[in-house]
Amino acid sequence: MADMLARRFPAGFLFGAATSAFQIEGAADADGKGPSIWDTFCRAPGAIATGETGDVACDAYRRWREVVELISALGLSAYRFSVSWPRVMPSGTGAANEEGLAHYERLVDALLERGIRPLLTLYHWDLPQALQDRGGWSSAATIGAFAAYADLVARRLGDRVRDWITINEPQIVARLGHESGEHAPGIRDHATALRVGHHLLLAHRDAAAAIRGASARARVGIALNLTPCEPASPSAEDEAAARTLDASVNRWYLDPLFGRGYPAEVLQLEAEHLEGASFEGYDGALDFLGVNYYDRTLVRASPTARLGAVGVPDEEAERTAMGWEVHPPALTRLLVRLHREYAPRSLLVTENGAAFDDVVRDDAVDDPRRRSYLEGHLAAAADAMDQGVPLDGYFVWSLLDNFEWSHGTSKRFGIVHVDLATQRRRVKTSGSWYRDLIAAHRRHSQ
Ligand code: FCB
Repeated sequence: MADMLARRFPAGFLFGAATSAFQIEGAADADGKGPSIWDTFCRAPGAIATGETGDVACDAYRRWREVVELISALGLSAYRFSVSWPRVMPSGTGAANEEGLAHYERLVDALLERGIRPLLTLYHWDLPQALQDRGGWSSAATIGAFAAYADLVARRLGDRVRDWITINEPQIVARLGHESGEHAPGIRDHATALRVGHHLLLAHRDAAAAIRGASARARVGIALNLTPCEPASPSAEDEAAARTLDASVNRWYLDPLFGRGYPAEVLQLEAEHLEGASFEGYDGALDFLGVNYYDRTLVRASPTARLGAVGVPDEEAERTAMGWEVHPPALTRLLVRLHREYAPRSLLVTENGAAFDDVVRDDAVDDPRRRSYLEGHLAAAADAMDQGVPLDGYFVWSLLDNFEWSHGTSKRFGIVHVDLATQRRRVKTSGSWYRDLIAAHRRHSQ
């Protein structure tokens, strides 16, 4: 099976895995690192379901060599990781922390020595607390601070790192961080969330310019969480509801990034808040679009709902431990749609994966459901490529079981199991399956 699937991907296709700094590094105050909003948030009573903090997580800051060896043993051709802003600029602006920068330099060098391509994310949600104290993303000053941070990292690593992601999932930062308060900084205010979303798009543009200014060979993208909104029935009402929800979930960020400004539906709905938030001349200038895909939403019209639309569960569907529907064909439809409607030069699936309640038995972790999730979604990605989509890589979320934000370590997404008491790593059967797939791909590509 792995062999047939491997043949569907062209030579040079990147098979990677992804992580983020806060979720794996631990070492919360090592070597001059400043606190991030997640360090603070974890200490708020009730914020994290398990009451945990990210102080240790997978201890990957200290065990970075082990992480690189693992990536190499799996044969991954690329690794997506994020830089912790407060590790390299403890107060968010001003002085750089040499020890923090040296850490990422060592990591990148070790990856390159083993032929693994780094995909570096600058912002995966761990804003320096010092910036939050001055308003965080709701303040326009943070846009400039982010560009200066991007410049610092790009000057240091731009000679070696080619692929850059400015921001991971701006919509989640805005909505979960500032509207529902489920994520750091835990703010619950609609107007703030809208302002934050707008600032994040501007911050993407200015950081992209900074990266390109520091490194002429850089390829710059962004990673968006995209959730296909599909009508629950063929009725005109459900179709219209699905379109409205799509504008609010997906096109809100896609349209501006591709030079089209906010969708009309969003402007109409949020007129009060977005007035003056112009995107005159704005273009995300993406070299690639990163797609984080987990599931889809089935949409039904609902006259009483704010958007006239509600998500409804497909009762028959298989679900992961997050309660997310397993539905690979929606990934094909999403990629084909992005290609037809926005035509990015290149696409990467920057995250895709599933949480299940894995158990260690006889010193091994057998996770057939994750293996089949990955297999189904890789096949769905290949289906999209068959339809002409310029997809250049796929990154499993995640390399390691890690700190899943407000769920703490209770949700395991890794293809490698982490025993949190001992930090022992065990490659799950999904991980060995992925390794075999990549090995088969390499054989066919020679
Ligand atoms: C995404 C995040 C990632 C991880 C996965 C499960 O929204 O980017 O850090 O939490 O979901």
